[in-house]
Amino acid sequence: MKKKRRTRSNNFARILFILILCALPVILGKVLWDTMRPAPAEEADLRPAAARAGYFHALVKVEGVSADRLERYNAYYRAGFGLSMDEAVELVNWDVDILCPNGPDERIFELAQDKFFVGRNLSRYLAIYDGNSQNVRAVVEKVNASRDRIAYADIEPTDLSKGIMVLVNKYHYLDSSYVPDDLVSAASQYCQYSSAKLRRPAYEAFVKMAEDARAAGYIIKINSGYRSYSTQRSMYNNYVAGHGKAEADTFSARPGFSEHQTGLAIDMSTPGVGYWSFGDSAAGKWVHANAHRYGFILRYIEDKTDITGYIYECMHFRYVGVDAATVIHENGITYEDYYEKYVK
Ligand code: DAL
Ligand code: ZN
Repeated sequence: MKKKRRTRSNNFARILFILILCALPVILGKVLWDTMRPAPAEEADLRPAAARAGYFHALVKVEGVSADRLERYNAYYRAGFGLSMDEAVELVNWDVDILCPNGPDERIFELAQDKFFVGRNLSRYLAIYDGNSQNVRAVVEKVNASRDRIAYADIEPTDLSKGIMVLVNKYHYLDSSYVPDDLVSAASQYCQYSSAKLRRPAYEAFVKMAEDARAAGYIIKINSGYRSYSTQRSMYNNYVAGHGKAEADTFSARPGFSEHQTGLAIDMSTPGVGYWSFGDSAAGKWVHANAHRYGFILRYIEDKTDITGYIYECMHFRYVGVDAATVIHENGITYEDYYEKYVK
């Protein structure tokens, strides 16, 4: 009995040994495979690489981080340019690591001080910035207004998804078939001539303003509101016939390039005062001081004719809503600056 038991336990040990022997290559193979095989697709994400570099956990706390740029942030941060992590992230987001692989140009930090600086325009700012910090504002507003491009040549369609914030200028155009779908006819007491149309939000704001103006002792009317593509074409062609193309381009938009086609622009007037003198009238002065409170901005301002591309138009207002109008009025900027920074 004793001998038999010993034999049975010997057999068991032998079987166990054989089993372990057979399993060993499988286990070793698995360990080797796990170490050598390439990462599966979902692990090809850059995060593990950055995490290995001891960077990811700190990096994800920085505002504006984008997962597909982690290696670039990491590389620029560690390149020895003395950048903080926040700076590295911000600069790479503006593609500075590509523009300046040997370290950021000092001019970038000067440009970035401007309130309306936008990173995506950086290479265009740099192309015209001479490094004199007195010129930073001029550089930023020029590029933001597309004035480093050729008017009526470097053009793109207006982004209509922006609603009442649409941008129309010598670089952004409306299709000849574009007609706003919420045009309303203004009541006759608000029209200088027999009729005028505006987009509903602009009209409602105008009525409010006109009523408050009336309470303050001023009459303001719509001289010109919505203009169709074909109306603008006839007007522009007449101006060209009378003044020549170069001069016409300083005060009239070409068809498709007029804000009047948006239904959000109004040339305002007051009885007995000429079109170009509205700004000097008492009613005009009241409007200039108060229009932003109703969501209107003076669109072609006196000291920015190089930026807007039009002479000073004391009567042409554009509806953009109260928040935008207040920022624009208080900063004395063009709509282009505001659009580039906050709307685009
Ligand atoms: N007078 C402005 C620029 C227009 O024609 O739209
Ligand atoms: Zn106008």
